[in-house]
Amino acid sequence: MGKPIIYITRQIPTQLLEPYKAHFQFEMWEKEDTPVPEAILYEEVKRADGMMCLLTEKIDKAFLEHASHLKVIANMAVGYDNIDVKTANAKEITITNTPDVLTETTADLTFTLLLTTARRIIEASHYIYEDKWDVWSPFMLAGSDVHAKKIGIIGMGRIGEAVGRRAKGFGMEILYHNRSRNERIENELGATYGSFEDVIKEADFVVSLLPLTAGTEDTFNEATFAQMKPSAIFINASRGGVVDEQALYEALKNQVIRAAGLDVFKKEPIDSTHPLATLPNAVLLPHIGSASVQTRERMIQLCLDNISRVLHAEAPLTPVK
Ligand code: GLV
Repeated sequence: MGKPIIYITRQIPTQLLEPYKAHFQFEMWEKEDTPVPEAILYEEVKRADGMMCLLTEKIDKAFLEHASHLKVIANMAVGYDNIDVKTANAKEITITNTPDVLTETTADLTFTLLLTTARRIIEASHYIYEDKWDVWSPFMLAGSDVHAKKIGIIGMGRIGEAVGRRAKGFGMEILYHNRSRNERIENELGATYGSFEDVIKEADFVVSLLPLTAGTEDTFNEATFAQMKPSAIFINASRGGVVDEQALYEALKNQVIRAAGLDVFKKEPIDSTHPLATLPNAVLLPHIGSASVQTRERMIQLCLDNISRVLHAEAPLTPVK
C-alpha cells in the first residue's frame, strides 16, 4: 500500500515537508499567489487522505460531501469561518486551526496598525514622496496620542490579551468586552470589563478581535459607530465580516469617528477602487496579521503536525469543534 496522500492547496516551501516525507506523499497546487481553482481542488482531493488549506478555500457542505473520505483538514489560520465545521464534524472529518503560534505576531500587527493610524504614519510618509513637505509647522500631520488613552478591546481571546499587554506597555487604560469575563487578565493587565456599549462609548481606540460567526456579523454598524466618540479610532484585525463597510465608510467620511485601521475586509482581496481606499483617514493593509516568515512557517508546521497525528490515529494538537 502506498503512503497516505496529503493535498496542500497552495505552494509552500518544500523543505517544510521534508520531516514528513517518510510517512506521506504530498501533492500541492503549484502557485503561491493564486488560489487553487475549484475544479482542480475537487479533482485533486479525490485521492487525498488529508488536506491543508488556507482561508481562501471555501470548505462548505458541497465540498465536504464531495470529500467525505478525508480524515483531516488543517486550516492555516486561527479563524475558520471559511469552514462548515458542523458538517465536517458530522462527517467525522477532523478540522484543525493554528492558534497560539500566531498570537504575538498578530498582536504586533494589530498594535502597529493602531500606532500607524493614530499618528497618521502612511499620510506622513506620502508627504515626502509627494513633495509636500515645504516647512515644519505646529499642526502638520498632527495625530492622536496613544499613551494615556483608553483602548477598548472587543474580543479578549489570546490575541486580545497580547494586544492588551502591548497597550499596558504604552501606558494605556484597558477596557474590554468579551463573551465571558477573565479575572486573570483583569488582574494582570489592570483591564476593566464592560458591556459592549460601555466599552465602545468610552474607548479612544476600539479594537475588534472578534471571530466571524453568525452572531458577530456586522457588529460594527451605523448604530455602533454612532455610539463611539467623534475622536475614536477603530481598528479591525480579525475578520472583515464583523464590520458593515458601507456604514464604516459613511462614519469616516462624515467624521462620526476620526479614523480606522483595517487589516481585513468583507470580500478580500480589495484594490484601490474600494470605497474605503478613497478616504484619507483609513489605513488599509492586505490581511497580513500573522505575516512574519517565522510565524507563517510555524503555522505550516502546526498544520502538518495536526494532519500527521490524525493520519497516525493520534489526537490532533489544535482541533476545532
Ligand atoms: C488569519 O486571519 C487567521 O485567522 O489566522
